[in-house]
Amino acid sequence: MNNWKKKDLLGLEDLTVEEIKLILDTSLVFKEISTRPIKKVPTLRGQTVVSLFFEPSTRTKTSFELAAKRLSADVVSIVSDSSSTLKGETFKDTARNIEAMKVDTIIVRHSCVGAPHILAKLIKPSVINAGDGAHEHPTQGLLDLFTIREKKGRIKGLKVSIIGDIAHSRVARSDIWGLEKMGAEVTVCGPRTLVPPFIEKFGVKKTNVLDEALRDADVLIFLRMQLERQTSDLFPSLREYRATFGVDKEKLKIARKDVLIMHPGPINRGIELSPDVADGEYSVILDQVTNGIAVRMAVLYLLLGKKG
Ligand code: CP
Repeated sequence: MNNWKKKDLLGLEDLTVEEIKLILDTSLVFKEISTRPIKKVPTLRGQTVVSLFFEPSTRTKTSFELAAKRLSADVVSIVSDSSSTLKGETFKDTARNIEAMKVDTIIVRHSCVGAPHILAKLIKPSVINAGDGAHEHPTQGLLDLFTIREKKGRIKGLKVSIIGDIAHSRVARSDIWGLEKMGAEVTVCGPRTLVPPFIEKFGVKKTNVLDEALRDADVLIFLRMQLERQTSDLFPSLREYRATFGVDKEKLKIARKDVLIMHPGPINRGIELSPDVADGEYSVILDQVTNGIAVRMAVLYLLLGKKG
């Protein structure tokens, strides 16, 4: 039974614990479909999903589109460099025109914070935030929660450290909202210039010392150095970042023997993680990607399935 009430998925800040649990439990049911020889069910037959990406993406865009197709929805993909925004059309007009084609859901990624929220108020179709600037990336947060719960059997009471460029990371914000709501103990760690000064108000601990974040953590979530968001003058050099906050097998020796290594991707190999850690025994980075499809199937089902 689909008890979902909200029209849109805009962020984990807006979700209740019960809503997060419903998405995670539904994802578990959908995960099995991707293991079948024929990875398709008729759940969303006749529904139309549009993915509208104004920023690059490999994982999120592909994952949403595969999720929709595995649920038998019709999927149309629009990317900014082939859309009429290049001819001067506004974001709102683009969305209104897509709505006029009677679609059911628009999945949107945009560099502007709040872009999906504007659409959600403007149009009738469901809007799913696939990442808005440095604000939120709710399905990444949900797939991270799902992966932690799958591997550890619980989220409540776990110690989770988020390491890297916290200030520019929408993943960090969604992870913090989700992990705090689900009862984890969160520590953020990074250079002083890349950790927001009042981050403790979110209920997290803060450190600028890598060892403090590594020691005793059940889960380590590494974030990408976001060079495209003008972070390069916020620390002396990538070499210094790697020396101070990058993790290799040697530095990982102080971590727990059952620690999980996570990363939303794309990885800057050899900067935040050495290849032997990114691909090593503790890494669940590709499990995160696999789980992303199940979580996005669940989100599409809950948002669209309630109409059926
Ligand atoms: N994790 C993530 O958002 O990756 P993409 O930018 O490739 O979608």
